[in-house]
Amino acid sequence: MKRTHHCNEIRPAHIGQTVTLSGWVHSRRDLGGLIFIDVRDREGRTQTVFDPSDLTPELFEQAAALRSECVVAITGKVRARPAGTNNSKIPTGEVEVMAASVQVLNMAEVLPFPVDDPEVASKVNEELRLKYRYLDLRRPEMARNLRVRSKVATATRVFMEEQGFLEVETPTLFKSTPEGAREFLVPNRREPGTFYALPQSPQQFKQILMVAGIEKYFQLARCYRDEDLRADRQPEFTQVDIEMSFIEREDIYALIEGLIQRVWKTALNVDVSTPFKRITFEEALNRYGIDKPDARFGMELADFTEEFRASTFKVFSGAIANGGVVKALNAKGLAGATQGQIEAMTETAKSFGARGLAFIKVEGGEWKSPIVKFFTEAEKAALASKLKIEEGDLILFAADQWLAACEILGKIRLYAAELLTGQGKLTIPTDRFDFLWVIEFPLLGFDREQNRWYSSHHPFTAPVTEDIPLLKTDPKKVRGQHYDIVVNGVELGGGSIRIHQPAVQKTVFEEVLQIPPELVAARFGYMLEAFKYGAPPHGGIALGFDRLIAILCNTPSIRDVIAFPKTAKGTCLMTDSPGSVEPKQLRDLHLELKARHPQTT
Ligand code: AMO
Ligand code: AMP
Repeated sequence: MKRTHHCNEIRPAHIGQTVTLSGWVHSRRDLGGLIFIDVRDREGRTQTVFDPSDLTPELFEQAAALRSECVVAITGKVRARPAGTNNSKIPTGEVEVMAASVQVLNMAEVLPFPVDDPEVASKVNEELRLKYRYLDLRRPEMARNLRVRSKVATATRVFMEEQGFLEVETPTLFKSTPEGAREFLVPNRREPGTFYALPQSPQQFKQILMVAGIEKYFQLARCYRDEDLRADRQPEFTQVDIEMSFIEREDIYALIEGLIQRVWKTALNVDVSTPFKRITFEEALNRYGIDKPDARFGMELADFTEEFRASTFKVFSGAIANGGVVKALNAKGLAGATQGQIEAMTETAKSFGARGLAFIKVEGGEWKSPIVKFFTEAEKAALASKLKIEEGDLILFAADQWLAACEILGKIRLYAAELLTGQGKLTIPTDRFDFLWVIEFPLLGFDREQNRWYSSHHPFTAPVTEDIPLLKTDPKKVRGQHYDIVVNGVELGGGSIRIHQPAVQKTVFEEVLQIPPELVAARFGYMLEAFKYGAPPHGGIALGFDRLIAILCNTPSIRDVIAFPKTAKGTCLMTDSPGSVEPKQLRDLHLELKARHPQTT
């Protein structure tokens, strides 16, 4: 019994035809002596009907024994559903198949969770879903996500090919290089004490490919980072990785805007308008308190440094005297925030090192706050006018160094938006995509603990040309030729124009980042050497492919768009990985364990 149609295909035009469907028993209902079985396959589902008056008793018994998720092939004639029984929710809802025979291809035990009811399935504990991922992936929503992923991968490849790019695979057995995140290491059996590292990205290989004259490279590349995992971070993930020679920043912006347009059209049939807005890092922090702003709603930060410079409220004027700023935001309609919610916000401020979080509740025509008594009329008037204060508002303040003050309120802005959305006072449209280029990032950040500079992106990013002289005199003022693409508060990707002059790269490694010359030679020597043989000017970008698909599928977690993701602890619950190994394997690798896993015998 070979399938004649997929379960989404049968229409009134097929009435009278004999068809064979193969798939899983999606649901079974017994009604008035008849048995109704919805058969589901990858494409959809169709209702089949078993009528005892048409069938031999054996056949009817076989149908009666079918349980959810048994695998079947059913043959029968298509007919119109009786009047009033159409199901407008599915494309095959006007017809049904009168079963003439059924072949049970496999039975199924009772499932650990139902896959037929989206309401129930969406509430199933994620650990259970991950343990039985093959069942989870049977859910139409999950199958749709994988389908979007596949379609978008193909659209990306076609687009990049049209633009003249070559897809080149780069090694995933690489070596350790300090690019930011902690790496996964693979011991080398052939030379004791040496290790491969899994690449955090193909960054160095793609730059070398430019030296090799490839000019336009891309790859759907697997990357590995041993970092703290969250909804938007997996230990292994996929990038749309891109590098080009003889280009400037504008060329990358145009390319990516074209790619996004193609992808949105393919996956959602949505026309994205270009060019995307651009915002500098500084403006993003000043207005939204974050370098990946969700610009779909306002609640922007306002600055009150000048207004409070001479204030009698020492928390504010003291912070300013220390070189800091005073910033505030108006969470409109949140004056009713509970003690617990205010405490949660205060904890955020404290996690940035602040002593507290000043706030004003505007209730009953009054500004309720222990700090208002310190404010002059002029200070109050400035607050009222800049923040457009009205009844029901909650005003929150951060007095701190510029970056910390911005970041505190940036976090609080998102938290307040979540609360307001929950209360129905704010609507953030899920079908709107606010793309932004965030540009002019500082090239370097300063690590107080280690007392040295680090690259904000990676050490290959070129400084803005006119800032190069500042590298040695005032590193914090140097802007990088780095750009991030952001949509709805998600960092979708980032890249930069690279340093292509070996001398500048050496200065950055040794003098700015203060990596000892021997270490530079050991880790990056091959790159510096390659650059001596004619490296073209080049630059590129990488988009987080999993994040891209999550946005298209409107899900907050990239786990929902990866077939077999890891948990927040980095484990795979289905295969029970990572696992322990045999002593012989360790001996072969010249490894001895200091700690044994309790499950090791
Ligand atoms: P970056 O480190 O910014 O740049 O990474 C680029 C994009 O990859 C995605 N991403 C992740 N997605 C899922 N899980 C993770 N753990 C994870 N980490 C990063 C993000 C991010 O924006 N080589 C450079 C790019 C370049 O300069 O061309 C790089 O990897 O969406
Ligand atoms: P204190 O003088 O510590 O009692 O603080 C007075 C008020 O200012 C309290 O409401 C604190 O939560 C708040 N506050 C303290 N430090 C800061 C800060 N850095 N930014 C904003 N508010 C603060």
